[in-house]
Amino acid sequence: EPGAHVPALVIGTGYGGSVAALRLAQAGVDVHMVEMGMAWDTPGSDGKIFANTTSPDYRSYWLRTRTKQPLSNFLGFPIDKDVPRYTGILDAEEMGGIIVYQGRGVGGGSLVNGGMAVTPKRENFGAVLPSVDADEMYSVYYPRANSGLGVGTVDPTWFETADCYQYARVGRKHAQRSGFPFVFVPDVYDWDYMEQEAAGTVPKSALAGEILYGNNYGKKSLQKTYLARATATGRVSISPLHKVTSVAPATGGRYTVVIDQLNTVGSTTATKTVTADRVFFAAGSVGTSKLLVQLKATGALPGLNSEVGKGWGDNGNVMCGRANHLWDPTGAVQSSIPCSGIDNWAAGGAFAEVAPLPTGIETFASFYLSITKNPNRAQFSWNASAGKAELNWQTAWKQPSIDMAKTIFDKINAKEGTIYRTDLFGAYKIWGDHLTYHPLGGAVLNKATDNYGRLHGHPGLYVIDGALIPGNTSVNPFVTITALAERNIEKIIAADL
Ligand code: FDA
Repeated sequence: EPGAHVPALVIGTGYGGSVAALRLAQAGVDVHMVEMGMAWDTPGSDGKIFANTTSPDYRSYWLRTRTKQPLSNFLGFPIDKDVPRYTGILDAEEMGGIIVYQGRGVGGGSLVNGGMAVTPKRENFGAVLPSVDADEMYSVYYPRANSGLGVGTVDPTWFETADCYQYARVGRKHAQRSGFPFVFVPDVYDWDYMEQEAAGTVPKSALAGEILYGNNYGKKSLQKTYLARATATGRVSISPLHKVTSVAPATGGRYTVVIDQLNTVGSTTATKTVTADRVFFAAGSVGTSKLLVQLKATGALPGLNSEVGKGWGDNGNVMCGRANHLWDPTGAVQSSIPCSGIDNWAAGGAFAEVAPLPTGIETFASFYLSITKNPNRAQFSWNASAGKAELNWQTAWKQPSIDMAKTIFDKINAKEGTIYRTDLFGAYKIWGDHLTYHPLGGAVLNKATDNYGRLHGHPGLYVIDGALIPGNTSVNPFVTITALAERNIEKIIAADL
């Protein structure tokens, strides 16, 4: 309610926000979560909550009138189409030299992501979060995060014969023939459910190509895990279609939080003000960084230090496809949930997921999303005349990622006598170097905050999302975001409340 007071206000309902809400509530603190996206709990006129990847509609994009599909072309032809402007689930946010894809709604990125739940190799952790005690992370917080998220792995026996993973078996064959380690990748998808989909006994989700615009069945998004447990405490309330626009000190050590209520075309229908004892920034790397840079530059939070906005990276994301020979079909029905990868991190700085192309037809293509050790870092700054935060990432900064991915795919192509696909990202364009799914950093741990996410300069303000992580996790990021949030909130509850 406008004018209300809350002990803890959480901005955003993704991984960091959901962990904070659950643990605070369990410690007896009432929590209010503010989420700019929709609740995603009500079916549309087709009886489904989420739209299919192959037929985007009004539900699919955040306030766009035309889709912005990550694979913009097929067989060289552009596939984007007009859609009604709506507060849809996937934001393709154009930040100058890069399009940053993000989930919008209660559950954040867990609504739209592939569910790949990967714990970094222990030997890589020091480079990911240098100020964090690795022993503690691997003995306590990674296990806690994996259990809270419901992480599992495909049954290796079923994998060998499942039609929907023919593409992954082709990926394995090609990787191994070139001498690369091939690994199974854990996922939060319900693997028993997927086997039932394949058997034809339940409604299909992964096997119907659902992924980018939400999964109607099978995927354990945060709505089914952390957020379900948080709301079951009776201490957590959530306001969807509410966007935080300001946080500033109030009397008594509290903070005044200004919130716009949105309608489904994105217009502000009301502006509300609440006070909070503590505010947790969990708006995602981009959302949190944009807010903090704005609040520092406009004088609302003058105590924030000069690290705010810095250390942003794209987790080295780069995509590519390979054209297979006709004797290596990858399957007409592909599970939209990837289950495997090629690990060349130590030798070449690249970890490549063998990704699906769930088009419903045989493509003879192998498709990969590589996570690479790209060293480039960008910075957010406040553009006062435009009234918005901007990011200085350059498209050319992806070149190290392309070079690292080539350590895998040039070798495989040479061995197999195959070539790159040139029809997926434009006409005659090999590399998907214009985007990231994995924004990280902008309010880096132990720099913009202390070693537990307390923002310098303003007691009672915390960062608890991907903004804490300095640009790269060596694997898909959400398990690390969750584990770090578990670590930090435990300390904050013990020491600050
Ligand atoms: P997250 O982005 O999840 O949540 C932030 C929330 O805050 C959002 O719901 C947003 O709407 C809300 N918000 C922002 N600003 C706000 C404001 N001012 N007021 C109110 N609310 C606000 N990772 C992985 O590990 N495995 C995978 O398989 C994939 N696959 C994948 C696919 C695709 C298509 C995408 C887009 C992303 C992935 N990811 C992934 C990445 C993963 O989803 C991502 O790293 C996490 O969701 C980030 O978690 P956070 O808690 O940082 O923020």
